[in-house]
Amino acid sequence: MCGIVGYSGPNNSVGPIIEGLSRLEYRGYDSAGICLKINNELQILKKEGKLDNLKSLIQEKKPFSHTGIGHTRWATHGAVTADNAHPHGNDLFAVVHNGIIENAGVLKKELQAEGFEFKSQTDSEVFLVLLTKFYLETKNVLLSISKSFSTITGNSAFVIIEKNTDKLYCLKRSAPLVVGDNQQTREAFVSSDPFALVGFAPRIYFPEDSIICESSVSENGVKINFYELDLTPSDRYKIQSNAMSVDTTNKGIYEHFMLKEIHEQPSLIEKIAAYYIKNEGRKILDQIKNFKTSCWHLTACGTAWHAGLVIKNYFEQINRQRASVEIASEFRYKNPIINENEIGLFISQSGETADTLACQELCREKGISSFAIVNVEGSTLFRNADKNFLIHAGVEIGVASTKAFTLQVLTGYLMSRAMSGTLDDPNLFVELKLLSNRVSELCADSEKIKKIAEKIYTQKGFIFTGRGKYFPIALEGALKLKEIAYVHAEGYAAGELKHGPIALIDEEIVNIAVVGPELFEKTISNVEEVKARRGKVVVIGPEKSEELEHLSDFYLGLNFHGLNDLSPLYVNVALQFLSYHIAYLKGTDIDKPRNLAKSVTVE
Ligand code: M6R
Repeated sequence: MCGIVGYSGPNNSVGPIIEGLSRLEYRGYDSAGICLKINNELQILKKEGKLDNLKSLIQEKKPFSHTGIGHTRWATHGAVTADNAHPHGNDLFAVVHNGIIENAGVLKKELQAEGFEFKSQTDSEVFLVLLTKFYLETKNVLLSISKSFSTITGNSAFVIIEKNTDKLYCLKRSAPLVVGDNQQTREAFVSSDPFALVGFAPRIYFPEDSIICESSVSENGVKINFYELDLTPSDRYKIQSNAMSVDTTNKGIYEHFMLKEIHEQPSLIEKIAAYYIKNEGRKILDQIKNFKTSCWHLTACGTAWHAGLVIKNYFEQINRQRASVEIASEFRYKNPIINENEIGLFISQSGETADTLACQELCREKGISSFAIVNVEGSTLFRNADKNFLIHAGVEIGVASTKAFTLQVLTGYLMSRAMSGTLDDPNLFVELKLLSNRVSELCADSEKIKKIAEKIYTQKGFIFTGRGKYFPIALEGALKLKEIAYVHAEGYAAGELKHGPIALIDEEIVNIAVVGPELFEKTISNVEEVKARRGKVVVIGPEKSEELEHLSDFYLGLNFHGLNDLSPLYVNVALQFLSYHIAYLKGTDIDKPRNLAKSVTVE
């Protein structure tokens, strides 16, 4: 969602701020702005729409400033307008904000009654006005920040600059925020994502909640002070080197990040196998060798929830352990039945999804351990987990999650094999290598999927079906298509069609039917039901089947042989390509689909 970048140092802050915001564009936003401290004045430039609009304005004005903050906004309170874009500022402070101030409405009324004026409809401006009010009363910046922060409720991250110094102040509550420094170049940074600081800040600080970070730059270097809200010094932060590479910001030979990320999967499958079976990850999995619990509580959102559904099958079928999988936004409010010695397992690419974090907190309050399957090391989910199972997917830029799904499922699968004590089974490595090869073959020959896409992309609606282990893949295929191609798509268990959705079937609807080798005949009967009602059918099933060839309008034959429990991942890559090609033909913004954000940090 929103992105934050702040800079203070000897160079023009505009460069690193705009570069950082560009790297965060993939997260989704609808306006952008920057505030620069120039000659003890705070100058704000804001534009609705893409960052390019702000860049053009900057090009025109050519500002130079040693200290500044920038923001890309994904609207929550107030329409998408330049006035509502961040930073919000006055002649004392400028503020950028990610998150939601839940008591903003009440506070705004109180502040207006006291005579304070507002220029925007945002909740964020309430923080600026509080800051100003407390500063006029106390003349103390740190105290004003602390008082303002203590007055608001909800999860938020703020960065603040003031007109009198070149300091950067920031603090947060359950929202991502990092501070960075480069002692050699004497530069200080702040961002909502360490990715924005790659190549700028070799060292990253992760403050805990409710810690005020104050960065100042002098000839002696960068000094970062951390304070509790009572303004006593704090040591509640972690330091880490920023090991990410700038290459990840590059599409390479691919037209879209999504396509690049789909193609990365074969090598990532081999890497995760080597990591968890043979290399450093093995000791992490050995900690859960023969592990048992009476119930796993898996929670996640979107694609990560679908990964949870596949992992549940592994835990139940391989380990015979009970696992419930729930959408995080439901689990957190349902007063779930949680007993001691059960385990919460949270799945997330970003590790910053607000609802998933709330479930983790709920499980912590209920006293059960928290395990995480997560991509971003150092994310909030990662830091709050008792045990982490990193998926090592690298940065995923496409808003539509592809490689993260594959690696979440594989990590869950390897956890399941560790619990059953079968990590050293030589067939396991062979099976994983086979998956990588089959996915490679799909990548090399995705033209045949493109040809199917060309035949169906103008159809009105799509129903994805599958049974058993392919049911979660049907859900995931439909989600991928709707999010990037803006077309109505639903995922169903194939046997469920006749209980309602079959009413939708006519010649304008396409059934993308996954017909796996298991329950083959039964799944075929479901396809027959669609055919009988003049629906178009794309069958994805075992290759060289005359029956499937005959049954379908379009047939994608795949080699399931030897993949066993991993075959859903193989089919899913075919569906990733199908969605990609349909979206491409429809001309949508594949990497940054409308209305979506990469990391959903508000509930
Ligand atoms: O970062 P997370 O894995 O927690 O994100 C969860 C969902 O927001 C995410 O998977 C979303 O559904 C994707 N856009 C799907 O492609």
